[in-house]
Amino acid sequence: MDKDFLCISEQSEQRLLELIKRGVYMKNQITANQKSMDILKGKTVVTLFYENSTRTRCSFELAAKYLGANVISVGVSQSSVQKGENLIDTAVTLDKMQADVVVIRHSVSGAPQIIANNIKASVINAGDGLHAHPTQALLDFFTMQEHFGKIKGLEVSIIGDIKHSRVARSNIVGLNKLGAKVRVYAPNTMMPQGLEEMGVTVCKNIEHAFDKVDVVMGLRIQLERQGKGAFPSLGEYNKFYGINSQRMQLTNKNSIVLHPGPVNRGVELSYDVLDKDYCLKDEQVLNGVCVRMALLESLCLKH
Ligand code: CP
Repeated sequence: MDKDFLCISEQSEQRLLELIKRGVYMKNQITANQKSMDILKGKTVVTLFYENSTRTRCSFELAAKYLGANVISVGVSQSSVQKGENLIDTAVTLDKMQADVVVIRHSVSGAPQIIANNIKASVINAGDGLHAHPTQALLDFFTMQEHFGKIKGLEVSIIGDIKHSRVARSNIVGLNKLGAKVRVYAPNTMMPQGLEEMGVTVCKNIEHAFDKVDVVMGLRIQLERQGKGAFPSLGEYNKFYGINSQRMQLTNKNSIVLHPGPVNRGVELSYDVLDKDYCLKDEQVLNGVCVRMALLESLCLKH
């Protein structure tokens, strides 16, 4: 068992499936209002987020609390980072306070690996630059497994800003590992080179992106990063790349829409899709707590 959880490419298929399976147990517990477990009693989990987050940070903190761990959240804007303390010194400080797990989000790709190399505590990557968002991918896999009873053989289409998306990268790597077939569609300005080498089909048009797929995953337009200038307007993005109920008619029966959130309503997902039963964005949020519980347990108890 590795000390850390930094990217999907380092995880075996078996490990991913074990985490999903244990996540089912956690989901049964918390949806039955069993949110005072003592599985991680005496353990300490620290969240250290250098970038904004609602879903990932809150779900890690709740996951740890539901399991009975001590939890603290370092508010980077009120911490000694503002006095110039560097990343490693900050992480070592938390390590010396006997943290068992440090959950980090950082705008620089590779930042979690740097601190993992320098501290005793387990490090979980909660999103680093354009590189990876492995627990988002894990909750996406959980949601597919729960809905279809399998991942192997599913046709998954990822639509949007593939180039700048750590969610897309982690999903592509993991879905390949788990036996799904992945296709992608994006404006040229948001499509990286070399995707075919990763075993992905690049769609030629929007119809191909929806044709007989089981899962349609929209990606958030990252307006705070690279969104500006990559397409003429949000309305045109929705017209040419948006997920709407008409396009969903091209997909397989029982297909679902996923989105990591936060959603730009009426942009990646049209309003007519947001309230459909097949749009599982809110279920993904719940599933995120469950798989993060499974992950925290595995790192704290088995390492
Ligand atoms: N999906 C995701 O990472 O959301 P947050 O930025 O709110 O954590």
